[in-house]
Amino acid sequence: MKTISSEFILRRLATALSVAIITLTVMAAISGVLLSFYYEPIAGGAYESLKDITTQVSNGWLIQKIHDLTGNWLIGIALIQIVVMFLGRQFRSSWLTAWISGILLTLSAIGLGWTAMILDWDQLGYWRLSIELGTIEAIPFIGTQLRDIITGGGAITSVTVEHLYTIHSYIISVGALILAVIHLWSLLQQEKEMHNSLTTSSVGKLEDKQAQTEAELIQAP
Ligand code: HEM
Repeated sequence: MKTISSEFILRRLATALSVAIITLTVMAAISGVLLSFYYEPIAGGAYESLKDITTQVSNGWLIQKIHDLTGNWLIGIALIQIVVMFLGRQFRSSWLTAWISGILLTLSAIGLGWTAMILDWDQLGYWRLSIELGTIEAIPFIGTQLRDIITGGGAITSVTVEHLYTIHSYIISVGALILAVIHLWSLLQQEKEMHNSLTTSSVGKLEDKQAQTEAELIQAP
């Protein structure tokens, strides 16, 4: 049986993790925007521009490291949050909102990592994307269209880098920021609701005890 203290710990842990999630998302978004000042989303040029950012631009290496770490930690923490929220499930509307936004946020974080695969235009990213495009193409009915949307039609070129950069930095990252805010807000809402219900139940218990004492006093000879 779940005790009050384990519920309390899981609820507090979920709220703390949602604060970590929003912090990481905001840091990734800010460092991403800073990277975009010097980043060039073109085949070959992407690699060169990132090399310049890390070697020529002042503190560029730090911004790139922060973006890399916050983006990858976000995936890890969001996955841990799914487990924590499942263990402390409440099935109230605030919990459900937090649960759904948490799952969508995790998918967005994975999507951000996936779309970044070709952004540094290195051998590993290029060949990984080539293989994964083959898998995408094999999806029935929509596979070929999906592949063309990602690559811009045909082989992996500058258009592919531009498409994935746009999806990464303007679409999924904005979605992730909105989801992180909804996630934190719903967990704070859950904290408030549970605090109120605990206060109401303890006031109720106190009133019962008072009534019992009064009844005992009346009965006493
Ligand atoms: C919620 C916000 C964001 C998250 C979680 C995120 C996450 C990531 C991740 C996981 C990577 C791969 C890092 C690696 O392992 O090397 C990456 C790379 C990159 N992101 Fe973002 N990103 C976000 C927003 C942005 C924005 C707003 C921009 C630009 C306007 C941007 C530009 C880039 C670029 C240029 C790279 C390639 C740099 C590299 O490979 O080092 N990101 N991002």
